[in-house]
Order: sequence, then C-alpha cells, then structure tokens
Amino acid sequence: MIAAIIAAAGSGERFGAPIPKALIQLGDRTLLEHAVAAISAVADQIVVTAPSGYEKQIKAIVGDDITVVTGGKTRSDSVRAGLAAISGADFVLVHDAARSLASVDLVKRVAAQLESGDVAVVPVLPVIDTLQKVAADGFVTAAIDRNELRRVQTPQGFTLSILKEIHQSAEDATDDSTLALNAGYAVKTVAGEERALKITTPSDLATALTFLGNSASFSTGVGVDAHAFGEGRELWLAGLHWPNEVGVEGHSDGDVAAHAICDALFAATGLGDLGSNFGTSRPEYQGASGTTLLKETLEIITKGGYSISHVSVQIIGNRPRIGARRTEAIATISAALGGADVAILATTTDGMGLTGEGKGIAAIASALVIKR
Ligand code: CTP
Ligand code: MG
Repeated sequence: MIAAIIAAAGSGERFGAPIPKALIQLGDRTLLEHAVAAISAVADQIVVTAPSGYEKQIKAIVGDDITVVTGGKTRSDSVRAGLAAISGADFVLVHDAARSLASVDLVKRVAAQLESGDVAVVPVLPVIDTLQKVAADGFVTAAIDRNELRRVQTPQGFTLSILKEIHQSAEDATDDSTLALNAGYAVKTVAGEERALKITTPSDLATALTFLGNSASFSTGVGVDAHAFGEGRELWLAGLHWPNEVGVEGHSDGDVAAHAICDALFAATGLGDLGSNFGTSRPEYQGASGTTLLKETLEIITKGGYSISHVSVQIIGNRPRIGARRTEAIATISAALGGADVAILATTTDGMGLTGEGKGIAAIASALVIKR
C-alpha cells in the first residue's frame, strides 16, 4: 500500500499573497487541488498538512477521503505531523503542494522505483546555470562543476519505516531525501520534470500557467436578453425578488440578468442556448426561476468539461435601482453558479430604446470559462 503526505502548511511568505500559498488559484483550481489530483492517481491514503486555522477550509476542498492535519513550524515538522496520521503503508510519497503540476507520470515513476526495491527515491533535473561560490565580499572564490549537480524535486518516496526513522529526531531540512542521505541510506534518483517546478513567487505561477496551456483552455461568450414590462407580474431580477416593482412577461420568471448569463455561458461553451436547453418545448421550465436556470446551466457546462472563471452582467433599464442590492444580487448569482466570480453592473440609456422608454428591462452578460 502506498500512502502520501502533501505538505501544504506553508504561509507562502516569498509569494506575498494574503492567503496560504496552497490555496492560490492556478487555472481552474488551487495549487493544492492540482497536487492532490496527481497524487491520488497513485496513493491509497493521502494526508494533507494544513496551516493552522485553515484545516476546515482545506478539508472542504480536498473532501472526505483525505485526512487533514495541522502542519508544523517548518516543512520537516509538517511532514512529521502528516506521518503521525499514517499507518499500515509499505511506502510513503512526500510531496509539496507548491509543486502543483507534478504529473501522474512522475508520481508513478517514483512509486515504481520504490516497488522495484529502492528505499529512498527522488526526482531530479540537471542544473542549467553556471554555478560559482561567492564570498561575503562579493568576489567569486570558485567555479563549481554543474555536471555532477542536480535540482531535487518532489514527490519523493520512502519505505514507511525509513521515513519514520529519519523523522525520529527533530532535524530540519528543506526536503526528506537530505535526511535519508544524512542517515546513511542510498537515495536513488529518477528523472524529474520541469512542470514540477516549485511555485515560490508570482512569476513561478505565471510559468506554471504556461504548462497548463495544453490541458486547459479559456473561452468567452456574450449573452443578451430583454423582456417587456407586464402588469400584474412580480419582478424577479438578478436572482432577487423586487417588491413594489412592475414585473416582466416571459415563459419563465423573466429574470433578464440570469438569462443573459446563462446564454453567455452557453456561448462560451458552445452547448446550445437558453431556448435549445430550456425553451418552450420544455414545459418543466415554465415559470422557472433565474437561479434554477443558472444552476441547470452550471450542471450542463460542468458535464461538458467546463468550469467558470468569471461572469459579468450589465442590467439596462430605468428601474429598479440595482446599486442598493448589488451585493445581495452578486451573492445570489454566485451561489447559483457554484461560487463563481460574478460582477453586476447597471445602466440607463438616456431615455432611448425599449428600456429608455420604460417598456422593459434588458441585460448583456459575458462569461469566461475554462475547459479542462
Ligand atoms: N510547508 C509545510 N509546512 C511548513 C512550511 C512549508 O507544509 N511549515 C510546505 C509548503 O506548503 C510547500 C512546501 O512545504 O508546499 C515547500 O515549502 P515552500 O515552497 O517554501 O512554501 P512556503 O514555506 O509556504 O513558502 P515561503 O518559504 O515562501 O514562506
Ligand atoms: Mg518555506
């Protein structure tokens, strides 16, 4: 059995973000989720070390099958905390959440090397730069032959007993293979990969995005909707009920903002449009609320392999006044779209056109989606 520890308890000081580095978004998911996806293709049991105070948030992200423990002060302390939650494994992979894009192939390569009999395994890459030693006075004192040197990555693999032994003392190192080496064990190397770079600074994140290029692509879409006012109808707009306002005519509840967003999402994903998905031929959507249609749209595009990066909608009309309830509207629409980033704007048209003449309300939406 293979277990894995994903070290994700660092604060990401060098990155400088207001949230822990493992929770930073890369493409359609967090650094931690990328790391979990690759590791879970190989490991039977996964323990994630979380920064103190973020345990619940991380548990919600990684799900029930993964154990979350509080990390320690240093990376080695965190690995020790993770190790305490592992039992009964033959091998343990130790991986940095910060090496988010390590591929399943790399994880398999490390695991296979362990299964072939090596007791400590590290992925390595050649050094590209010329290396020199420099003294405190700024002068170069020696050139170093880079041919013998390697850059060390994760995931690293160990037998459970050796990993336990090398972590018995409270020794600190920036990785585990160094502890194994210091304890006298033979550390075997396998080929690493550039995409397993450690994301340390914002420019590393930009580099990582270029590796995602093949597996994720962005597309955009625009959607428009307009409905005429209809006496005796309730007004539903941007997922909210607006008491004391005149409602609009329509097959559904006439929420133009929600409908425009649905069409923008269908446009971005090429999965039909509002009419083809929920039109008059689908009586079950008669009177459906805007939020219901948003939820259904999210389900359709999710099944199509897409996730939402951002949607925005501009509501066009003399009334109602959106500003005072903007926050509430954004929260409602975002919740219907699974927590997506949402922006809501409003404008009048200087008395011109159907909305300016007070005949109805219109909305224009745009969506940015990611295909995996
Ligand atoms: N890590 C950990 N516990 C710590 C420190 C680091 O689990 N006390 C983890 C990090 O979350 C990261 C990996 O170890 O996935 C490698 O560490 P590093 O890249 O240095 O991340 P941070 O320590 O978060 O960054 P910084 O050093 O810039 O603060
Ligand atoms: Mg660190």
